[in-house]
Amino acid sequence: MNGGVVVLASGTGSLFQAILNSDIGPLVCSLVTDVPDCGAVDFARSAGIPVQAVPLTGGLSRDDWNRDLATAVAQWNPALIVSAGFMRILGPLFVDSFPNRIINSHPALLPNFPGAHAVRDAISAGATQTGCTIHFVDHGVDTGAIVAQESVDVQPGDTEEILHERIKVVERVLLPATIKELLQSS
Ligand code: GAR
Repeated sequence: MNGGVVVLASGTGSLFQAILNSDIGPLVCSLVTDVPDCGAVDFARSAGIPVQAVPLTGGLSRDDWNRDLATAVAQWNPALIVSAGFMRILGPLFVDSFPNRIINSHPALLPNFPGAHAVRDAISAGATQTGCTIHFVDHGVDTGAIVAQESVDVQPGDTEEILHERIKVVERVLLPATIKELLQSS
């Protein structure tokens, strides 16, 4: 292992930016994305971090895509792989290539509200508290062992966008701190 960190992201990339700006930023060796023109790619390019795009295109089976993704990540032999706003489910072919080395940041207090619409689901359920969870990735959807959690109150009148942004403020601190702790204890 080279001790480095590979980040997986598909979207705006504010968690990726927070990792880059933290004291573990220099350990980030690559951004791997399924969305070649996403915001995270812009942050990576500005910071001089190599970008590998592995889109799930029409002709590619899920297994082939998971294999391609694993090949892209494996070349760095990273100590940790961090899913930070990566919006695709990682399949067994990928997960089993990196046992106990993949973590994900999820915008809810797991086991409550797993899945792609965690913030919307918390509001719909009338939850008064939600938050974020950093967990290891296993074969399930947001079911792996929990490493860290922090709660965030749901305020009356919160929209999905407002609440999600308040959760992300917490994630931007909790995720880099958790990565640092895991690297120190490995
Ligand atoms: C974060 O809230 C992260 O927890 C969530 O996407 C957001 C990424 O924000 N991830 C998931 O929902 C994964 N299922 P960003 O693009 O601003 O970094």
